[in-house]
Amino acid sequence: MRGARAFVGLGSNEGDAYGHLTAAFAALDEGAVRVAGAGRLVWSPYVGAPRGVLPPRVLNTVAEVRTELEPEALHARLSEIEQARGRVRDGRHTRALDLDLLAYDDVVCVTDELTLPHPRARQRAFVLAPWTEVAPRYVLPGSAHTIVEHATALLRDDPAQDGALRVATAPPFADRAAPCTRLTDRESLARWRDGCRGTVGVVMTMGALHAGHAALVQRAAAECDHVLATVFVNPTQFGEGEDLARYPRTLDDDIALLARHGADAVYVPSADDMYPDGLATTWEPSGAALGFEGALRPGHFAGVVTVVTELWRRTRADRSYFGRKDAQQLAVLAQVRAERALPVEIVACPIVRAEDELALSSRNRYLDGSTRLIAREFALALRGLGALAARGRDLDGVPMPFEPARDLAAVRAHLAGRGFGVDYLELVDPDTLAPCTELDRPRLVIGAARLGGVRLLDNRWLAPPAAEAP
Ligand code: PAJ
Repeated sequence: MRGARAFVGLGSNEGDAYGHLTAAFAALDEGAVRVAGAGRLVWSPYVGAPRGVLPPRVLNTVAEVRTELEPEALHARLSEIEQARGRVRDGRHTRALDLDLLAYDDVVCVTDELTLPHPRARQRAFVLAPWTEVAPRYVLPGSAHTIVEHATALLRDDPAQDGALRVATAPPFADRAAPCTRLTDRESLARWRDGCRGTVGVVMTMGALHAGHAALVQRAAAECDHVLATVFVNPTQFGEGEDLARYPRTLDDDIALLARHGADAVYVPSADDMYPDGLATTWEPSGAALGFEGALRPGHFAGVVTVVTELWRRTRADRSYFGRKDAQQLAVLAQVRAERALPVEIVACPIVRAEDELALSSRNRYLDGSTRLIAREFALALRGLGALAARGRDLDGVPMPFEPARDLAAVRAHLAGRGFGVDYLELVDPDTLAPCTELDRPRLVIGAARLGGVRLLDNRWLAPPAAEAP
């Protein structure tokens, strides 16, 4: 299914709130609606209770769905799911389940039944925070601004709301329990591919899978008729002295995770099957591949491009899903696709983070407890830059617009002082990775730093606040 792109706000503050949201995710992922992604669950104070009434806190998130239903029918479906969980609209301040249709494609409408986008969506941090995770670049219909710009404006105007949020856990995606066929060589892959009718999505990985990979599969399965994952620890993208030999290998768990999120097949080639003619890599890095990782890890992107283009050829995928966690990899692959006019659509998917803000990574399992406590400061520093960009004044209230060169240098120095070996921390254009000197529109801060033998890679959207009042 491709269908329309819509966003649903979910909340619960009655009884087993997590259980209610889990049931809602399962009910949403049925029939003409598929769950394509979601932000983390956040606890927030109840908004709008009369004086003297203190309702329980609400567990919230935002889910992105693909649907063949029209807005009114989707809205009606949400009410049905609410009622099935015992929701009664009787003015109480506890709700087993509250589902709001936040936005639907680029639809703007006001009827007795439905207003789109949802009129209060831009005023609530418990909506904008998970929404920014799942769709930072979505332009809110009827406004000229993206979700990340609206979130930045709210952070400027009402920082206390954001401060009151507590991240609880990852979203409870429903178990799709698809049988996942294991393909071990080119021939069986070709046979599987020949049997596919409709669109094929591919999710390429090196295994040691976690919720970040799961999110790619979750989205691919919501958008494509068939989903193929690949697991291959690609030797050509590891340099001398890198961790090829000790890269974690957890294949049985990986296949279970892929099946749960809806992958139909997984291709797990041997090195001989992948590279029958040896390990030659021929791609000469240019453009987005030159700086940052490209400069620090010679040969890395040539190895990535070699394996990815070969997998595109073998799988004849219509869509290929990659995480924004590896922003430069994404930019390099988009460049190669465009240069060679390859018939594959690249779908960029949001970064999935742990509750402590660290971007999930297969290599994070090497961080011991105390190092991890420090490691999260890297992710928090990037997040802090978002607040700095929003505020535009110093702690005494004196106007001090965000200035990338000065403010990034301060953060680099801070991290170095905490024991990080900072490889880089720069403001870049999200599509070309070209460095930027100004925050005139949403950009990415990308960073890499070493700590305790582990290399952390991360990035954050940084935006000027939306111009209009939210
Ligand atoms: P790997 O590191 O296994 O990552 C596979 C895919 O998962 C990539 O697209 C990556 O960006 C995405 N991913 C990893 N962590 C993520 C997170 N926390 N949130 C969202 N997405 C995340 O990247 C590679 O493998 C390889 O270079 C590969 C493309 C497979 C080529 O060998």
